[in-house]
Amino acid sequence: MQDTSEQKTALLIGASRGLGFAMVEEYLRRGWRVIATGRAGSMERLLQLAQSSGGALETETVDINSREQVAALRGRLESRRIDLLFVNAGVKNDDGETIADVSTEEFVRVMVTNALSPMRVVEAFSEIVQLSGTIGVMSSGQGSVTNNTNGNYEVYRGSKAALNMFMRSFAARHRDDARTLLLMAPGWVRTDMGGPEARLGIDESIPGLVSTIEAYEGRSGLHYLDYLGRVVPW
Ligand SMILES: NC(=O)c1ccc[n+]([C@@H]2O[C@H](COP(=O)([O-])OP(=O)(O)OC[C@H]3O[C@@H](n4cnc5c(N)ncnc54)[C@H](OP(=O)(O)O)[C@@H]3O)[C@@H](O)[C@H]2O)c1
Repeated sequence: MQDTSEQKTALLIGASRGLGFAMVEEYLRRGWRVIATGRAGSMERLLQLAQSSGGALETETVDINSREQVAALRGRLESRRIDLLFVNAGVKNDDGETIADVSTEEFVRVMVTNALSPMRVVEAFSEIVQLSGTIGVMSSGQGSVTNNTNGNYEVYRGSKAALNMFMRSFAARHRDDARTLLLMAPGWVRTDMGGPEARLGIDESIPGLVSTIEAYEGRSGLHYLDYLGRVVPW
């Protein structure tokens, strides 16, 4: 295992499968130390990868919708210094369900998981991110108000637009902070969430997304970017 003072550490939240798991693999390939989280019950792939990582991958469990679990994880990582905090966890509701027919319970589940909980993680962990470091969350192109011309996936869109807005407020509150803040749009990708018809494979999205995050290191302020480094309109 490479273990030099230059080795960077990423804390990846919601990385048990799909895009989050691929980010873990990509950062390990690039020589980073990674702390990756899954929910209790979905740790299997991360634990397997940790075994073959030579110590570069540490695993933790957290459900971001549990304030207690987020606080407990923050306590366990108190003494750590993180170069990248990235919250990937997210959910969607049924594709065909509009705001007209979504249940209140389902609306709350999507909004809390995609907007409130990622921000609670950002708030809780921002202080252990290095001043030269990056705080990112997985947004979506669907979160763009400007680009919403067809109205599909409207509950999910609303949750990612809310996430974007909360990150703008966080950025405004931390105006003088040197840390880079990122909202990332991975493209439409074939995962459990994206489905088999999606335009991109994981390998067409994640290397570019990680390269974009790296390219923005040291550039403070908030940036809304896609997996090819293109600016997404608000
Ligand atoms: N795929 C796409 O086309 C696409 C496009 C734009 C944006 N995104 C965004 O990219 C992110 C990852 O999407 P994906 O396609 O990889 O989805 P996925 O395959 O469904 O994976 C979702 C991940 O989020 C985790 N998660 C869900 N709720 C959580 C919670 N309460 N606490 C902790 N972890 C939780 C899941 O953990 P478990 O295994 O425990 O369920 C899983 O690791 C999401 O934020 C999604 O909105 C995806």
